[in-house]
Amino acid sequence: MTAWDRDPAARGDVVVDEVRMTYVSEGRTTVAIENASGTVRKGRFVSIIGPSGCGKSTLLDIVAGLTRPTSGQVRIGGESVTSPRRDFPMVFQDDSTLHWRTVLDNVALGLEIAGVPKAERRARARDILGVVGLRGFEHHRPRQLSGGMRQRVAIARALVMEPAMLLMDEPFGALDQQTRTLVGIELLRIWEETRTSVLFVTHDIREAVTLSDEVWVMSRRPSTILDVVHVDLPRPRDTDVLRSAQFEGYVGVLWDLIQAEVASAMREQERAAS
Ligand SMILES: Nc1ncnc2c1ncn2[C@@H]1O[C@H](COP(=O)(O)OP(=O)(O)OP(=O)(O)O)[C@@H](O)[C@H]1O
Ligand SMILES: [Mg+2]
Repeated sequence: MTAWDRDPAARGDVVVDEVRMTYVSEGRTTVAIENASGTVRKGRFVSIIGPSGCGKSTLLDIVAGLTRPTSGQVRIGGESVTSPRRDFPMVFQDDSTLHWRTVLDNVALGLEIAGVPKAERRARARDILGVVGLRGFEHHRPRQLSGGMRQRVAIARALVMEPAMLLMDEPFGALDQQTRTLVGIELLRIWEETRTSVLFVTHDIREAVTLSDEVWVMSRRPSTILDVVHVDLPRPRDTDVLRSAQFEGYVGVLWDLIQAEVASAMREQERAAS
């Protein structure tokens, strides 16, 4: 038996191991995450869905090494994540492009911070812009692009770092439904090309089924991972797949799982406010 067989993390899998997170602020203790465990196998696309406030962003921050959990740990390659990792970049909902920089210089930013020489970082940024379908826009400013294109710049900025895993916190939340669908299809195409592991938070069940190999369903607070649904739909996820009864079956299963959680989370918020 090799080290790889014994410990999945040795292969580049990311292991979330009994993570618990308690916040204390103004004398109040909030158990954001009661217990979360799971493995993102290398190269897999995993989505997280769950009621608002259940700790999805908190879990992503912990995986990224931006927040230390109260207990438990995240491991990659057998190594515990204890500080922010450059190879786990995060893509957020907000447009995080820097408006005074060109598209090319936005994408090259992380490499610049890492001290990569100018010619090399520009060449790498140019390559990645090709991958996200923005060749020809290198010298544009973000304001000259659509919202969907700006989000692709943000994805390119993460990909140029050759990430071990891409962390995405509702990355399409600010886009209209049509653009969101198109950028989602674009993300799938990019992912098929790069096969970077992805941990993707969304409120949109159909988006989760469309994109993912598996969907983690989080319960309301104090949260745990209630269930993991493996989406065994063929790839590429073309129109036939997305219109199939099997696709709707997965949407139904996830909706049933989440419905009760969302309803009781809302009741709890109302009680807390009254
Ligand atoms: N820095 C903090 N200090 C205190 N409490 C916090 C902090 N960050 C988050 N929380 C609390 O932890 C819980 C989980 O928050 P989190 O932002 O992770 O939820 P979420 O699932 O991402 O929600 P949403 O779907 O609305 O984005 C919430 O109750 C929130 O109020
Ligand atoms: Mg959040």
